[in-house]
Amino acid sequence: MARRKMIYEGKAKILYEGPDAGTVIQHFKDDATAFNGEKKAVIAGKGVLNNRISAHLMTKLESIGIPTHFIRSVNMREQLVRRVEIAPVEVVVRNVAAGSLCKRLGIEEGTVLFRPLVEFYYKNDDLGDPMVNEEHIITFGWADPYELEEMVTMAWRINDYLNGLFSGIGLRLIDFKLEFGRIWGEHGELYLVLADEISPDTCRLWDAKTGEKLDKDRFRHDLGDLVEGYQYIAEKLGLVPAGGILQGGNVNEQLAEKLEQIENELSKERRLRDLKPGNKPRKP
Ligand SMILES: Nc1ncnc2c1ncn2[C@@H]1O[C@H](COP(=O)(O)OP(=O)(O)OP(=O)(O)O)[C@@H](O)[C@H]1O
Ligand SMILES: [Mg+2]
Repeated sequence: MARRKMIYEGKAKILYEGPDAGTVIQHFKDDATAFNGEKKAVIAGKGVLNNRISAHLMTKLESIGIPTHFIRSVNMREQLVRRVEIAPVEVVVRNVAAGSLCKRLGIEEGTVLFRPLVEFYYKNDDLGDPMVNEEHIITFGWADPYELEEMVTMAWRINDYLNGLFSGIGLRLIDFKLEFGRIWGEHGELYLVLADEISPDTCRLWDAKTGEKLDKDRFRHDLGDLVEGYQYIAEKLGLVPAGGILQGGNVNEQLAEKLEQIENELSKERRLRDLKPGNKPRKP
């Protein structure tokens, strides 16, 4: 196979040029980082699990009408997605207080918020992704008011849907981070789609009964084996068999490939939202 052209290497993923114009391959690495890259480790199985979980959740969201960048799984570590221009704004939705919210405002971890709280962060590693408000976003042109409104509307809808999905399998969705991207149609019209990933790297998920933390906080605060937590989530979602994808500390490659094939067979049935002119015109 010809060497693929790498577009970007981030902390958790690598982007390669995709087979068609306007597409990219998202490769999920086993690298784990926290505290803006200060803490690092390589954790066998993390990339495979995140790839599967994100592909699954994006597919589910697409099925309820959320436009996403996801096209299809390619192999156990990679997925094909639409290439977008990422808006430099991360949207965080919180249902229960945890993480930086507790630190910043002195709120006790675990406090149930009386309504979901939407926050914005400016995507800038050098500045440590600072929290910003709508005024900053508009003033500095990181998104226009229409895009911002659409992001918030989608974020609320995604939260409603994911809350139901996770509570149905005994997990509590504490909070999560979203990234949105822009795609231009053939007549110059703009579409906003959900991009990046939704995985235990970007969500906080607690076991509903025991309160056990199953997400990246395990790594951040040394709370236990990271892959065990991710594996448990994937198992509950019906994506991997009980017993896991790891064998003697390494990914059971054959099993993971097989699971991917099954998922791709299923996804043939799925109709991707057409980004056709007129489908979703940009507001004036
Ligand atoms: N569909 C897409 N098209 C183009 N870029 C994307 C797409 N989905 C995600 N990205 C971007 O690709 C990168 C994914 O890599 P990764 O998550 O490892 O980055 P990161 O280390 O978190 O760094 P960053 O600060 O850039 O987000 C991110 O910058 C993300 O915004
Ligand atoms: Mg990232």
